[in-house]
Amino acid sequence: MADIKHFLQFNDLNLDELNHIFARTKIIKAQFKAYQQYWPLQDRTLVMIFEKASTRTRLSFEAGMHQLGGSAIYLNTRDSQLGRGEPVEDAAQVISRMSDIVMIRTFEQDIIERFAANSRVPVINGLTNEYHPCQILADIFTFIEQKGSIKGKTVAWIGDSNNVCNTWLQAAEVLDFNVHVSTPPGYEVEVERANLYGDDHFETFADPMEAARGADLVTTDVWTSMGFEAENEERMRDFADWQVDSDMMKIAAKDALFMHCLPAHRGEEVAAEVIDGPQSVVWEEAENRLHVQKALMEFLLLGKVN
Ligand code: CP
Ligand code: NVA
Repeated sequence: MADIKHFLQFNDLNLDELNHIFARTKIIKAQFKAYQQYWPLQDRTLVMIFEKASTRTRLSFEAGMHQLGGSAIYLNTRDSQLGRGEPVEDAAQVISRMSDIVMIRTFEQDIIERFAANSRVPVINGLTNEYHPCQILADIFTFIEQKGSIKGKTVAWIGDSNNVCNTWLQAAEVLDFNVHVSTPPGYEVEVERANLYGDDHFETFADPMEAARGADLVTTDVWTSMGFEAENEERMRDFADWQVDSDMMKIAAKDALFMHCLPAHRGEEVAAEVIDGPQSVVWEEAENRLHVQKALMEFLLLGKVN
């Protein structure tokens, strides 16, 4: 099923497609704010498969599909055969014969790749251990809304080299901006992954303050991602100096933005004064998940709509 377009990693979309999606997001968002009905996906069904918890991803996909005139079905591992060992390839065959588009939140990237390889319909990554591409679509749209083009700008990533960080690194390649990454020792971007993206668009810093210096956007995420809970206590100690606080925001560009994919832990990866402060755009960022994913589903199902 080679000619189906999926969104499994950020770089599944090229620059032209991303620019199209950002332009459509702006229009779709404005229509939504003006209470204009837009039902291009009438009678289409989205299946959402969750193997991990979610608030924003579920809500934004489910609400988004309804707003586009379609319907959404929620499946999770606990009460479907997915949690009882049915092969992912078999699940993909069946689910994709009964629906028009699938979104999956799961553990290893390999699971979603295998699902997509056996799917008759587009598959969207709603977060894996390795990537969170829908989040970075929303983050970059939010940056563009607030500041204009992200090309040539600097994003400081402070904390864990996790799924959200990996996706920033991919996005930097496609959209030509820079990522300054600072992680505690032992939590660096994997060498293999670093080689994959080359060092044209990202630089690592031992000192988080140096990573943040002059940045246009400072962003972070939880110290312990879903699936890594057993490491929580150790991580609390190891990440203690990797908190985004107001001193760090002061060293960034004067009008720098702060983003966080949420959920956040005030007093851990971010100080309350930053996430609740004037440079924070976290609520706009969360809302934009809805709008970018509507544009993404429109694109994957209907191609370039004008
Ligand atoms: N940011 C994000 O994906 O949030 P949820 O885990 O609530 O979906
Ligand atoms: N890195 C976090 C993101 C949650 C939206 C996790 O994977 O748990």
